[in-house]
Amino acid sequence: MIRPVLHMGDARLLQVAAPVVEFDTPELHELLADMADTMQHEGGIGLAAPQIGVSLQVVIFGFEQSDRYPDAPAVPRTVLINPVLQPLEDSRAEGWEGCLSLPGLRGVVPRWQHLHYSGYDARGHRFERRVSDFHARVVQHECDHLNGILYPMRMTDFTRFGFVEAMTNLAKP
Ligand code: NI
Repeated sequence: MIRPVLHMGDARLLQVAAPVVEFDTPELHELLADMADTMQHEGGIGLAAPQIGVSLQVVIFGFEQSDRYPDAPAVPRTVLINPVLQPLEDSRAEGWEGCLSLPGLRGVVPRWQHLHYSGYDARGHRFERRVSDFHARVVQHECDHLNGILYPMRMTDFTRFGFVEAMTNLAKP
């Protein structure tokens, strides 16, 4: 079922989400199905449960080809629950981000370039990955939602923040 996505300003987006304690339940599968429906309907490449008003440590992400990010390399479709993130190096990279909770806006955000992350799938199986670049960016963006952090809170240069439809060619992501 498609659920309404909360927009920035809604206090529920600022909450710290609780860990999932029971896996492979009908409730968890229903939440994941709703998140997938909502993400597909909105044309997003990732979604965190707090964005639909559910304060649990659940994110989904992944795509083969994205209309929103046409130049981005594919990221495997992933369910990530109770995630733990660890940067692998000090290096950070800048890149454009958008968010379904800030429709129409884009901004440049510094993120760890190389990342180790671990967590659980819907059935409670633990997995881990080492990733870089756009994949690492997407995971950091989505997992920030679980700590009540929206991407503008990570920005350092607000000259590269604005409405996509208003951006001049030079500034465009
Ligand atoms: Ni977001």
